[in-house]
This record gives sequence, C-alpha cells and structure tokens, in this order.
Amino acid sequence: MRVASRMEAVWSWGTSQCGACVVHVDGKSVKACSMLAAQAEGTEVTTIEGLSPDASHPLQKAWIAEQVPQCGYCQSGQIMSAVELLSRNPHPTDRDINTAMAGNICRCNTYVRIRAAIKQASRALLQAGRGGASA
Ligand code: FES
Repeated sequence: MRVASRMEAVWSWGTSQCGACVVHVDGKSVKACSMLAAQAEGTEVTTIEGLSPDASHPLQKAWIAEQVPQCGYCQSGQIMSAVELLSRNPHPTDRDINTAMAGNICRCNTYVRIRAAIKQASRALLQAGRGGASA
C-alpha cells in the first residue's frame, strides 16, 4: 500500500513507454526502465526523493497547490521531466510544455493541472531570481 503523501521513483512497464520512471542522470531526464545499472556507473543519478528532502522544490510546491495527482502513479516522472524542462526553458508556453512532457503519460488525465503547476513553478522561480529549476 502506498502512502498518499509520499512520492517515490517507480518502475512501470519496463518498455520506455510511459515515463513514470523518469530520473535525472547528470541532469538529463532518463527513463530508468530502459537503462542498465551499469550504464549509470560514474554518473550522478537524481530521483524524486533527491529533488528536495522536504518537498520544498518549487515544482513540488506547485504540484501540491494545483492538486495535480489523481492516482499518483505517474507523478514522480512527471515532476522530474518538468524540472528538466524548466532548467532548459524557464518560461515555457503550453506548446513547449506539451512537447517536453510528451514522453510522460498520465492515465488519469491530469495534463491540465500539470501545465498549471509548471506555469506556477515557472513564475515562482522567476520571482525568486532562479531561471532554472534544478534541485
Ligand atoms: S495521476 Fe494517475 S496515472 Fe497520472
């Protein structure tokens, strides 16, 4: 049983289809299900647990404020992909978001709230003088 308030890196299909397992390898989003552990040797791997110790990353706060998750299964991968998006593009348009997040599928159809949370985090990061969203 999963605790509703806890979010963790997950394993899903193992076929690089849904993006639920996205982690960062040297700052880039990677579908962990398609990467061998040996390929990670010498790299820096960041999972959702490593994004912030207390869920205080602006994207995590925006996710909570927008009440994005439904079942929650895809959400750690969604947030990790969003972090990379904002690190490359601090003020994305809807189209930018849709393109960047296309590899992350949400079976609960939370896409509207995902876009709202990314925009909210973008505004928060820009107001804080942080153009990117790295951990
Ligand atoms: S919240 Fe259920 S799959 Fe995305």
